[in-house]
Amino acid sequence: TSAVIDEGDPRDWVAKMEKNNKRCTMFYGSQTGTAEEYAIRLAKEAKSKFGISSLVCDPEEYDFSKLDAVSPDKVVFFVVATYGEGEPTDNAQEFMEFIMDPDVEFSEGREGDEKLSNLRYVVFGLGNRTYEHYNEVARKIDKRLTELGAKRIGERGEGDDDKSMEEDYLGWKDNMWHALSQDLQIEEGAGGDVADFAVTELGPDSELPVDKIYHGELSARALLGTKGTHDLKNPYLAPIKVARELFSVDADRNCVHVEFDIKDSGMTYQHGDHCGVWPSNPDVEVERMLCVLGLTEKRHVAISIESLDPTLAKVPFPTPATYEAIFRHYIDISATASRQALAMLAQFAPTPEAAARLLKLGTDKDYYHEHVDGPSLKLAEVLQHVAGDDAEAIPNVENTTVWKQIPFDRIISSIPRLQPRYYSISSSSKLYPDAIHITAVVLKYESKASSAHKGKTRWVYGVGTNFILNVKAAHAGESAPLMSEKGNTAPNVVSSTAGSGVNTPTYRISGPRDAHFKAGSYLVPIHVRRSTFRLPTSPKVPVIMIGPGTGVAPFRGFVQERLAAAKRTIEKAGPGATPEETLKDWADMYLFYGCRKEDEDFLYREEWPEYIKGLGGKLHLECAFSRGGKRKPDGSKIYVQDLVWDLRDTLTKLILEKRAYVYICGDAKHMAKSVEEMLMQMLGEAKGGSAEVEGAKEFKLLKERNRLLLDVWS
Ligand code: FAD
Ligand code: 2AM
Repeated sequence: TSAVIDEGDPRDWVAKMEKNNKRCTMFYGSQTGTAEEYAIRLAKEAKSKFGISSLVCDPEEYDFSKLDAVSPDKVVFFVVATYGEGEPTDNAQEFMEFIMDPDVEFSEGREGDEKLSNLRYVVFGLGNRTYEHYNEVARKIDKRLTELGAKRIGERGEGDDDKSMEEDYLGWKDNMWHALSQDLQIEEGAGGDVADFAVTELGPDSELPVDKIYHGELSARALLGTKGTHDLKNPYLAPIKVARELFSVDADRNCVHVEFDIKDSGMTYQHGDHCGVWPSNPDVEVERMLCVLGLTEKRHVAISIESLDPTLAKVPFPTPATYEAIFRHYIDISATASRQALAMLAQFAPTPEAAARLLKLGTDKDYYHEHVDGPSLKLAEVLQHVAGDDAEAIPNVENTTVWKQIPFDRIISSIPRLQPRYYSISSSSKLYPDAIHITAVVLKYESKASSAHKGKTRWVYGVGTNFILNVKAAHAGESAPLMSEKGNTAPNVVSSTAGSGVNTPTYRISGPRDAHFKAGSYLVPIHVRRSTFRLPTSPKVPVIMIGPGTGVAPFRGFVQERLAAAKRTIEKAGPGATPEETLKDWADMYLFYGCRKEDEDFLYREEWPEYIKGLGGKLHLECAFSRGGKRKPDGSKIYVQDLVWDLRDTLTKLILEKRAYVYICGDAKHMAKSVEEMLMQMLGEAKGGSAEVEGAKEFKLLKERNRLLLDVWS
């Protein structure tokens, strides 16, 4: 099709639709790719439901004066995200400006509310309900198109990224498709289930040229060993310099400090940047997937994958790759199975009973929530369970029903790519130019009771952080983790290693076939993502840092950054210069830190006194210990925001008179919100007014002037 597409004006999507026989165009306003994914899903569904083919388009690349030239037997979809204060994504900005212009002119030149009288459209918005301007972009587009005479098909869809995006989408789309079929007078069932990819088995990797088969490499450069810059597309395989546990409590809570060696990488970073860490999947899930699909014997067979329609589906990882490498390194087999995937796979079930159970899970929202989403069941676990197998047992070939009817392309279509996990860099490149430090708390939570596990609750392990914990154990030379016996307290999990009796799934971090295992050690793929979370350039500007838990990570980097500058200044001042004397004009740094117990999970406890000394007392560390320490008079816990409140006189002076910068890092859901509220209260009081009016106003000003910066995650 590309030869056809290249003809004519490349911005004329209407001509492109006509020429290529497309009945829908899906425009996506996407920043991180989620809206684009939904646009692609809609295009695929139009095809499988009605046999209609669509264009999926980045609005930035097209001319919207043609909106009035789309014929009424076609439909234009807008799948658009809203950001921050109700803003469109970067790629939708131009479109929004164009369409919102009161004097907007289109190619055919009709007037008033006739301007778009030809146009039929569908809107789905992606937003976050915790923000004030929920789905504002989608709402604005909808209102404006109606004003211009266009006709919306079905209701406007709105998804909430905070909670229920997938359910919102699923709950909306069927009625929309129904309305569309009525409007265009098309019948459902005309399409049929279509594959996205063609999969070809090439044979055992041992019989193929080594430099052609991927075993976990994340780029062609990595496979061929050619040099090049390291970024998201080409992560660096970093050796581990240091890896140690910062704390380990009752084998349940661990926090790992890792220093990646970047000396020979050509990579640079600044304090406040993020480090992307590319995990692999744990052995137990790799084996489970291989077993369920009957691929155990074929683990080293390499396959190539080609997209049958590159506009609708890109091959998500490099190929040819072996089955095992695909499960271990490239797709997110540890994620909770999606409802859509379960519904789609029902047709390939080994028995009618399994098909019926899968279909019910795929179509009944509450049933799915109770049996899959709540207990966080992975796809292969669900397949085992609905086939009557014991999902709790370590997967082995004997006790697993093989789902041999599932074409492998459906596995690729229904499981997303394994994504890097991001960590706030906890070092300063001024002190450690050759290393990136991260501080990761190991994720492990008890899932809701699951019928697949005989009604028991069980532990669910975060992929990236347990991978890091294994890397740490291997680095420390702790005994190689072994698969556990059946019937362990924590199923499918080993009692490792980590020196502290930690239960964690094992990850293979050795082996000749692994791309990341070089010269006797495991190298971790990483890349740096730039951020705007930075110190003010002058050390004479005060800073207020609030970061309980791992939220302290970037602030360790901030403090080191100022310490490096302090060292230079003191050196310049000549022999005998003291930090106190030399840095007397420097501004104060306040660090508000919180953890449970002083002697349990206090991160970098031994380092802070050194930093305070090196900075001549300019660093003030204020700690809130929430468990086992002091309590408020009403018996409630003392958190960082309470310490902020206690110091409000000093802090408001710094903010209002000395232009201090305020930083919040860590938990987005609870902590950051409570701290923001406290800041508003404090600023409101200082301005002689209320938190809601004067406080909120000062808070907004701080944000607008980039003196209040957040690095938060949930
Ligand atoms: P995953 O396997 O990805 O599992 C996480 C998922 O599990 C969650 O999305 C949620 O769906 C589910 N889940 C978690 N808890 C529960 C529960 N109780 N009940 C039900 N479901 C649950 N982390 C750090 O430790 N240190 C940092 O410095 C740091 N910095 C970050 C900076 C940024 C900008 C961002 C976006 C994140 C940061 N994180 C940091 C978080 C980190 O990226 C990972 O999300 C975290 O380590 C978990 O990864 P994982 O692969 O172990 O878990
Ligand atoms: P808790 O777990 O005892 O409730 C790091 O996780 C620290 O942040 C812990 O001491 C934790 O206390 C605390 N924390 C939990 N919720 C918080 C909130 N809403 N605001 C501030 N700190 C919080």
